Amino acid sequence: MISQQRNDELTKIGPGEPAGQVLRQYWMPAALSEELIGARPVVPVTLLGERLVLFRDGSGTLGLIDRHCPHRGADLCFGRLEEDGLRCPFHGWHFDTTGQCLEQPAEPEGSELYKNIKAVNYPVIEKQGVVWAYLGEGDPPPFPGLDCFAAPESHVFAFKGLWECNWLQALEVGIDPAHASFLHRFLQDEDPDQSYGKQFRDRAASLDMPMTQLLREFPRPELLIEDTDYGLRLIALRDLKNGSTHVRVTNHIFPCAITIPMSNEMTITQWHVPIDDKNCYWYSLFTSFGDPVDKSTMREQRLKEHHLPDYRPLKNRLNNYGYDPEEQANQTWTGMGMDINVHDQWACEGMGAIQDRTREHLGQSDIGIMKYRRKLQSAMRALSKDNPDALPMAPGNGDIEAITGPQSIDAIAPTDSWQESWKESEANRRKASSWATDL
Ligand code: FES
Ligand SMILES: [Fe+2]
Repeated sequence: MISQQRNDELTKIGPGEPAGQVLRQYWMPAALSEELIGARPVVPVTLLGERLVLFRDGSGTLGLIDRHCPHRGADLCFGRLEEDGLRCPFHGWHFDTTGQCLEQPAEPEGSELYKNIKAVNYPVIEKQGVVWAYLGEGDPPPFPGLDCFAAPESHVFAFKGLWECNWLQALEVGIDPAHASFLHRFLQDEDPDQSYGKQFRDRAASLDMPMTQLLREFPRPELLIEDTDYGLRLIALRDLKNGSTHVRVTNHIFPCAITIPMSNEMTITQWHVPIDDKNCYWYSLFTSFGDPVDKSTMREQRLKEHHLPDYRPLKNRLNNYGYDPEEQANQTWTGMGMDINVHDQWACEGMGAIQDRTREHLGQSDIGIMKYRRKLQSAMRALSKDNPDALPMAPGNGDIEAITGPQSIDAIAPTDSWQESWKESEANRRKASSWATDL
């Protein structure tokens, strides 16, 4: 358990808050590109506690500016979208994608007041189906050379979902490799051939056993955590007691993402992005090392589970996440259906809007969480000493674009040589891929 003061430091993300300052050193997902499709590409975005509006002008340029008009604060999400910007419906002040005011039609003829008016604005860039924003000061850093960015667009599918809880507890479920054996336990295995686009449903690599069975029958992984240039590598070992070991390699990408294997073909890189202190979005880039991603199947699967435009899961606290005691007795550990996102959502939201960590009791299986909190704290300390270059993947801390991978795989390895064996499996997957680089 930790003190209330420390919990506040780790979880609060507004401007000026220590963790908020750390997150502002990095590009953050602000919206899916698909949200801007349609006749009027204007989307409200609340990110890191800041209320903003994202829009695309007639030339195709994106702008992310303060949602509240600099005149008297009206809501620009209802603005009139024009060829060269967004016009406030209240008195007609007109803004371009940089937030610069271009016109104030109610002011006296010849007035040049508009020249001095500029709305808060942040750099944005579109990549792999996501609009990314940089809310920090100074120039944004380059993007790292991670697989999810290096892959051709055809091999990456992006989606998001709303969780009504603080971002840190959402992230912490992703660096907790032990929970998969419980929270995501299926009491019956389905045919792995019917598993496209779903997590934990493939066969375990080179073993004719569904992942569901493996996770269920071997619930006590040995966890090894390594520091890396991008964050942490988490290795979960499950000794299958027959001379072989299941090795699951997952990663934490500083500050708020994870990369995990989804199937033998695909990985998921998932950001847990604060909307404000009590709500967050997960944004996932599903990246295929094999065939191009079947985006329409993946989207359809997920649209069936989410409400637009806010991407709120249809199963949520208002309907008890679809909880069915009969299902819990016979089919799934949670009784909340087959979608593992719902299980994770229940686990995180049920803690309360901001988990009270003064009452928690961490065990050895929480080692990833402990290491990450220490990393976040040391990043906060470095920023308080005006030393941003000490942060992972900071521009002054090595070549960001040279950070590749990360290795992320489920592999079956001989127990006495698992260290080399999983790396071979990963290298073979990369060799067979049309785009992946060797690491
Ligand atoms: S409040 Fe926007 S123009 Fe007046
Ligand atoms: Fe999970």
